[in-house]
Amino acid sequence: MAPAEVAAQVANMYDTVLILDFGSQYSHLITRRIREVGVYCELLPCTQRIADLKFKPKGIILSGSPFSITDEGAPHVDPEVFNLGIPILGICYGLQEIARNLGGETGLTVRREYGFAELNLDPQADHHSYKLFQDVPSPTHVWMSHGDHLEKPPKDFVIIGSTDTSAYAAVSHSTLPIYGIQFHPEVTHSVDGAVILRNFVIGICECEASWTMSSFIDKEIERIRTLVGPTGAVIGAVSGGVDSTVAAVLMKRAIGDRFHAVLVDNGVMRLNECEQVKQTLADNLGINLTVADASELFLGRLKGVTDPEKKRKIIGNTFIEVFEAESHKIDEVSRQDGLGAIEWLLQGTLYPDVIESISFKGPSATIKSHHNVGGLLEDMRLKLIEPLRELFKDEVRALGALLDIPEDLVWRHPFPGPGIAIRVLGEVTPSQVEIARRADHIYIDEIKKAGLYRQISQAYAALLPVRSVGVMGDQRTYEQVIALRAVETRDFMTADWFPMPVEVLKRISNRIINEVHGVNRVLYDVSSKPPSTIEFE
Ligand code: XMP
Repeated sequence: MAPAEVAAQVANMYDTVLILDFGSQYSHLITRRIREVGVYCELLPCTQRIADLKFKPKGIILSGSPFSITDEGAPHVDPEVFNLGIPILGICYGLQEIARNLGGETGLTVRREYGFAELNLDPQADHHSYKLFQDVPSPTHVWMSHGDHLEKPPKDFVIIGSTDTSAYAAVSHSTLPIYGIQFHPEVTHSVDGAVILRNFVIGICECEASWTMSSFIDKEIERIRTLVGPTGAVIGAVSGGVDSTVAAVLMKRAIGDRFHAVLVDNGVMRLNECEQVKQTLADNLGINLTVADASELFLGRLKGVTDPEKKRKIIGNTFIEVFEAESHKIDEVSRQDGLGAIEWLLQGTLYPDVIESISFKGPSATIKSHHNVGGLLEDMRLKLIEPLRELFKDEVRALGALLDIPEDLVWRHPFPGPGIAIRVLGEVTPSQVEIARRADHIYIDEIKKAGLYRQISQAYAALLPVRSVGVMGDQRTYEQVIALRAVETRDFMTADWFPMPVEVLKRISNRIINEVHGVNRVLYDVSSKPPSTIEFE
């Protein structure tokens, strides 16, 4: 099934607001803010034809854009948007699009306006324009980031707000529910931005705030059952991370043992991780789990390899090979047991990845690289099932808590597919992996004891391929170096190093040097991303 159809299936279950994306760096924030008030929304590229839409939105938001409306090749919305008779809100470039379609005049601001502005409001309490600014004081602080501005609003539009530099910072049609604002309500710097978006989706579009994770569970389980049918079987890789676990539990609840989870032990997982994942998923959560111990195969292939990209490729390809072999075995047994053939592959794709792949790419759009060990496994000829593809990470965590997944797992830091192999710099040998594992275990243990685990987005210990001189007792030592990494980040695309309290660092360093054989020095990484990355390799 095409991704747009899957999205439409979900959109048809809820009152949905459609966000048409013109490539602004803030577009995904509009989606976040609206979801936060419990209203479901879908982001689609601005080039979406209305005739091809597979669901009926209750309102449409036109986003900002890195383009100027006067640019040659600037993107434009399908004019049919204005014939749907549903509320429309244009933000920044979206306002210029409204003017362009309804007969206003837009111009270029002499200097790009970027930063705070005071918005003075004048919406009439008995007029529908008031609804957008209900409960918003005047003046209010708003965030501006634009080059274009409105020179003359279209006919029949009224001014409802202005700033020192923008006479038409907020306008609305005098009778139709069409609104345009020059500022960005989705950015938290716009103090009342969330209220404005809430007013639009609930007060104006009259959406029911029914998007909650508890409503999602039942609807998603129903959707999975319909999709897979009464006999179909699904296979999926699990890692012990929150995404794959939440996806697996949903599948288990939807189709029971017709969902087969596979945990590939690649030999570079964390200390005792394989046993712990098995215990949680199979023993506690009742998931039909197969553990494929391929650690020797992986470590054998990694022997002598020091190049980070080669390590990644070897692990990615070996993973696919092992997973496919396991899948064939499970398929055979499943057919013999009358449980049906494996037709579907489960993936824990999240909404930010979906947004990234479908959002409109403007001239200044950054290209993000994606890491996915499993890839799409195209040659397996399986159909994809992605129960989390409409969710943000915090929604997945909320869902995990509702599905009785242990709190420890729900809040687990991300762990890369290539595992400790990209945290052991240089050659990955079993003994090097063991040193990194033990140091990492102590590090995370102390972070948890200090109550800092949730404040930190990701932390781990890396083993450096250098030796340094030390002294232990009366003995000279010549041993390896552990580097500790801890970062704070919202999206993992940029990150700040975490200011770890000195007392905590002292305890960690002391324990690692005393308890991990082969290490005589511990360093703390104080580099942010960019220019560093979160992982060392
Ligand atoms: P970098 O090192 O690029 O990492 O700053 C950003 C985030 O991505 C994770 N990461 C990976 N995750 N497979 C994964 O599943 C990979 O190959 C991979 N490489 C990096 C990293 O742990 C961090 O959260």
